[in-house]
Amino acid sequence: MHPGAGYVGKEEIDAVVSILKAKSMYRFYGPNFQNVTGQFEQDLTGYFGRKYALALTSGTAALHTVLVGMGIGPGDEVIIPTYSWVSCPDAVVAAGATPVLADVDDSLTLDPADVERRITNRTKAIMAVHIRGTPCDLDGLLRVSKDYGIDLLEDVAQAAGATYKGKKLGTYGRAASYSFQLNKMISAGEGGAILTDDKLVYQRSVMFHDVGTPYRAWEDKSLKFDFEPFPGVNYRMNEISAAILKEQLKKIDWIIKDIKKNKAKIKKGISDIDTITFRRINDPGEAGISLVFFTQKAEQALLFKKALRAENIWTTSGSYPGVVYDPQINDGHVFMHWGHIFKGIQRVSKRYQASLDLMSRAVHLDISPLLSDADIEDIITAVHKVADGILTVDAPKARR
Ligand SMILES: Cc1ncc(COP(=O)(O)O)c(C=O)c1O
Repeated sequence: MHPGAGYVGKEEIDAVVSILKAKSMYRFYGPNFQNVTGQFEQDLTGYFGRKYALALTSGTAALHTVLVGMGIGPGDEVIIPTYSWVSCPDAVVAAGATPVLADVDDSLTLDPADVERRITNRTKAIMAVHIRGTPCDLDGLLRVSKDYGIDLLEDVAQAAGATYKGKKLGTYGRAASYSFQLNKMISAGEGGAILTDDKLVYQRSVMFHDVGTPYRAWEDKSLKFDFEPFPGVNYRMNEISAAILKEQLKKIDWIIKDIKKNKAKIKKGISDIDTITFRRINDPGEAGISLVFFTQKAEQALLFKKALRAENIWTTSGSYPGVVYDPQINDGHVFMHWGHIFKGIQRVSKRYQASLDLMSRAVHLDISPLLSDADIEDIITAVHKVADGILTVDAPKARR
């Protein structure tokens, strides 16, 4: 399940070679400087329709940078979903702030009602993570953000190119972050970016992402900001990654189209199974990289995963589990495995019972854009076979 990587071709290879031939791999200068990173940032603003883009080394670096850019730090709380990726709480801690968990709903994205319940007088932002390609309930989250005067930050790492109500994800919040790691919609192996229309967020992010910014400001007048310089880190993207990503971005709509075509076929093929319920999709503009359905009981989901594997249908990519919350699998997507960040989380897990109930019944299938029609048929047949074999045992409503 490496969508962008599967589409690497001559374009990416030529682009990398030209950077190497120029001997100019650094983003700000070189013997024959190409400024491909600057061009990639321009392309990002054009594709996503936002004013400012900043290319970075990873999605985690992007989250860290944009949180600092938004002025979030010690004493502040950021609400994050129980189901995302460990980078989400990690970046909040890196920014010096405190991550606060909120439940997901049956879309497996943040439940706006629970977000509202978790707000305190320290809450500064809500991190809306469009997990496994699917948009959050942005109407609901924007309402909470507005009612309480709290920023919305979108983490689009797993859904770049997807839309909500016809508008690209990442254009709803004050700012958005992206990842270009290998499992993402487009990839250079590693990479990240932030997008925003907010000049201050952008300028603070520029200051933070490169310790050289105060020094570059001597020569580049556009770097003379209306705030005092402050210390940062080095999260600059390099020209080789940018060269790959500039080509990958041209292919993003094509990749999504292929994924969604495959997902639609599989979903249609198993939609007659009445013992499973599909994950709610908040908008058909989703990226389509996953197909998730709920069984009635957690034990059934675990059995489902096992039986699908016996049918040689892999619901995983690498270590990714076939059931969203499987207590036996140490998976960084689920809050129960974030004990090094939330000490004693297991003891208070009942506070997130709604998430646990949903995630432990959620069977997860990756949808690759490269599936053949025969693969798709295999998946449909296997899901039917397993549903018939397993769900009839406990569920009186099983498909006949
Ligand atoms: C939802 C989410 N946020 C952030 C990240 C962090 O991205 P990276 O691995 O590029 O640091 C990832 C990817 O791994 C992710 O899935």
